[in-house]
Amino acid sequence: MQKYAIGMFFLVVFMVAWSCNQTVQEAGLKSEGEVLAKKYCLNCHNPTAGQKARIAPPLIQIRDVYLSAYGDRDSFVAAIVDFVLHPEANKALLDDAVKQFGLMPRLSYKPEVLEQIAIHMLDDELIAPDWYKGLE
Ligand code: HEC
Repeated sequence: MQKYAIGMFFLVVFMVAWSCNQTVQEAGLKSEGEVLAKKYCLNCHNPTAGQKARIAPPLIQIRDVYLSAYGDRDSFVAAIVDFVLHPEANKALLDDAVKQFGLMPRLSYKPEVLEQIAIHMLDDELIAPDWYKGLE
């Protein structure tokens, strides 16, 4: 009887894990960080918005600029998390974007959530708008 209960327990754990994974895959999304970025960042950082509708730079451009400034993963992630929690003009690396769109508003999401988004920016393929040709 006890064996049966343990077996059932693992079966339930397995099914829950499997179904969570399914929802991420069904939506065609690669990672939890991508889901979070879609939810919290892409409404402004929309990579497919037309030139006139743009209100912020695409994440791929931010990734390239931050990667060239912060070579290693940990400082990249820390810098993204820090900027979202405390955006300041003197910290901003995308000066042209600040001029064009204004400084990003402060967002108070949990650091763990922002870390996942930063890791997604590093590891997943990000959508590049047609006009974006990488860093000059
Ligand atoms: C309400 C609109 C808005 C939302 C939502 C938003 N951003 Fe931004 N973000 C901006 C704008 C505008 C800029 C360009 C100006 C600037 O750099 O501050 C920007 C710039 C940035 C930069 C570059 C800052 C620099 O210049 O060094 C980072 C990093 C960033 N956003 C991360 C994020 C992340 C991660 C999220 C989601 C958690 C997010 N943003 C959500 C508007 C937004």
